[in-house]
Amino acid sequence: MKIYQEAIEAISKFTMPDNVGFGKVLLPVMASCEYKDGKWGELEITPYKKLELDPTCKVLHYGQEIFEGMKAYNFSGNGPNFFREVDNMDRFNRSAARMAMPGVPKEIFINAVHEVTRLGKNFVPKRSGESLYIRPFMFATECNLGIKPAEEFLFMVIASPVGSYFQGGSLKVLIEREMIRACPGGMGAAKTGGNYAGSLLSAKKVKELGFDQTLWLSATDKDSVEEMSGMNFFAVINGELHTPKITDTILDGITRKSLITLAKDMGITVVEETLSIATLIEAIKKGECSEAFACGTAAILQPISSLHEVSGQAYQIKDEYGPISKRLRETLLGIQERTIEDKFNWVTVLK
Ligand code: COI
Repeated sequence: MKIYQEAIEAISKFTMPDNVGFGKVLLPVMASCEYKDGKWGELEITPYKKLELDPTCKVLHYGQEIFEGMKAYNFSGNGPNFFREVDNMDRFNRSAARMAMPGVPKEIFINAVHEVTRLGKNFVPKRSGESLYIRPFMFATECNLGIKPAEEFLFMVIASPVGSYFQGGSLKVLIEREMIRACPGGMGAAKTGGNYAGSLLSAKKVKELGFDQTLWLSATDKDSVEEMSGMNFFAVINGELHTPKITDTILDGITRKSLITLAKDMGITVVEETLSIATLIEAIKKGECSEAFACGTAAILQPISSLHEVSGQAYQIKDEYGPISKRLRETLLGIQERTIEDKFNWVTVLK
């Protein structure tokens, strides 16, 4: 690994605004590593800089790209620490396999994340719910217009001090009954830009209708709940915690699986099965669905106040955190921020 003196100088001159928002303020350093001739080169830590790409660079045409979202915490100044970083790396490499890209070796992935965080350790916001959002990504850099898997790639890590992902309170969610996010055998489980690009037209409609997020349904039956573009979905029905079981059309969320473990540990029954939107709506109408929420690395856990049809029909759930979502959020954040015992060994402290 090569750490450029310029990167150390760039970080020494950096100042962080008090109100960072989400993904708008970037650390002035980055990690990069090239893949060429069938092997990975040296990991480099440099100042953050613009990339120069040939117009035939394959990622610009065929979208061969993947990314991850992970966080470092420094609440109470006892970090920085990471949360389930190996799970992010493993998912990154599963996304790579689906997108015909080479896996990134552990040494390169973890060193890149750690070195960027080490340089930025004084810029991890310290208020609860804030963190350093770390974005590993990889894309095809080979230059020519042939449609075939590229043989040259760039792996990079950038990082952004962040506050809350959502500015407002609980979410109004549109049930998307026209467009489809993913289909069996497709790439819905991969964290690749195309899945997010495909969600943006629905996001535009959601905004025009005055809502906050899209809830995607299955391509197969147009009834099973899948996910929410950048978050997983949960509902509390008759006191049980329901979430769609993971298939190849749903991103296997690390926050999702952590909340499932925490809920079971709290004695809450967790149902990971197909979740029918028709059944969910009936449960809301009967008052059996007492809470719903979205979760993800960026979003943490955000309550859903209501589901909506494009026709204007609304199904009202709860306008605030319910007891289960509140307890789960506080426990998850407590472990991430190291104010609650890490009994599942999810936390790694930067050495
Ligand atoms: C994350 O939660 O890290 C994501 O990648 C989702 C994105 C909407 C920010």
